Amino acid sequence: MPFARVAGTGYYVPPRLVTNHDLMRYYDTTEEWIVERSGIHERHFAEPGTGPADLAVSAVEMALADAGLTPAEVDMIVFATLSPEYYFPGSGCLLQRKLPFRNIPALDIRMQCSGFIYGLSIAQMYVQQGMYRHVLVVGAEVQSTSIDFSPEGRTVGVIFGDGAGAAVVSATHEPVGILSTHLYSDGKYAEELTIQEPTSLYPGKVGHLPLGTKPHMNGREVFRHAVTRMTEVAREAMQAQGWQPGDVARFIPHQANKRIAQSVAEQLSLAEDKFYINIQKYGNTTAASIPIALAEAARDGSVQRGDKLVLMAFGSGFTWGSAAVIY
Ligand code: UT7
Repeated sequence: MPFARVAGTGYYVPPRLVTNHDLMRYYDTTEEWIVERSGIHERHFAEPGTGPADLAVSAVEMALADAGLTPAEVDMIVFATLSPEYYFPGSGCLLQRKLPFRNIPALDIRMQCSGFIYGLSIAQMYVQQGMYRHVLVVGAEVQSTSIDFSPEGRTVGVIFGDGAGAAVVSATHEPVGILSTHLYSDGKYAEELTIQEPTSLYPGKVGHLPLGTKPHMNGREVFRHAVTRMTEVAREAMQAQGWQPGDVARFIPHQANKRIAQSVAEQLSLAEDKFYINIQKYGNTTAASIPIALAEAARDGSVQRGDKLVLMAFGSGFTWGSAAVIY
């Protein structure tokens, strides 16, 4: 059975930089509060009319160049987003028409902040079964268009950003790559982090549900679960491979809040610098956050070929998961 290696990575954020000061135009907030509570200094917002598939194009081109492949060589797209352009069809199909891919399957998944880990797991299975040689896993989000810029929106509004990340997962006979993935969900917390409308529950699609069209997050509850679950699932990935924490070159967590990563590092008795953190530049980019971090870490020297990595995520659903990877 072949192994499924991360053959290339790429990322892209839209040019419009939004600082904490910029957000003070809308919210009763301060630079100090945002930095202290989340670690975020700035994020990027897409221009109106730009969707996740648009942002994904540059990330995918970078990942394919890194892998030495052309779009025509890709066998499948797995596209994770919670902010698709359309109710249907999915962003994967929109990406498929933007580059010279063949008529390959374009599978959209949601899974929110855990979307990229779920996507890696899907890619790993197709590649290891021998069905496909090169699977493109994309996480891309345009969340700025759903942000509630009224005063009530300040807790959620300051943390999210837009961006895209991509990884090419390719068959190899070397014993490297995605070695195991560990996926979970617990739907009893579905309403703790949600945008509920448009909905298929009632005719007209909006104006029916109590939490409505704006993002709703019970921040403290999400934070508490995120620390517990990301710690558990990072341990599980290491145990599955017989790795000690000291064997892992870098942990790449979903960038939800710098304090979440610090708490997970503390729970694992690890120095904080074992965790790759770039939330200060991009905010929380949901499904894009891990592939952006991985691509950036691979370029700035934080992650080298042959390194043992643990990637882990937690988010809306609740969903969570991890991947043990030899990069
Ligand atoms: O992406 C996957 C899932 N998402 C996450 O993992 C996010 C998890 N949660 C968090 O990161 C944090 O809960 C937040 C950063 C969203 C919020 O931080 P917090 O420390 O949990 O703040 P809080 O909601 O408990 O609010 C604390 C105080 C409140 O004031 P009082 O009631 O203590 O007087 C809020 O009204 O901070 C106030 N507050 C703000 N103040 C200034 C809330 N938002 C703001 C703001 N600026 N933007």
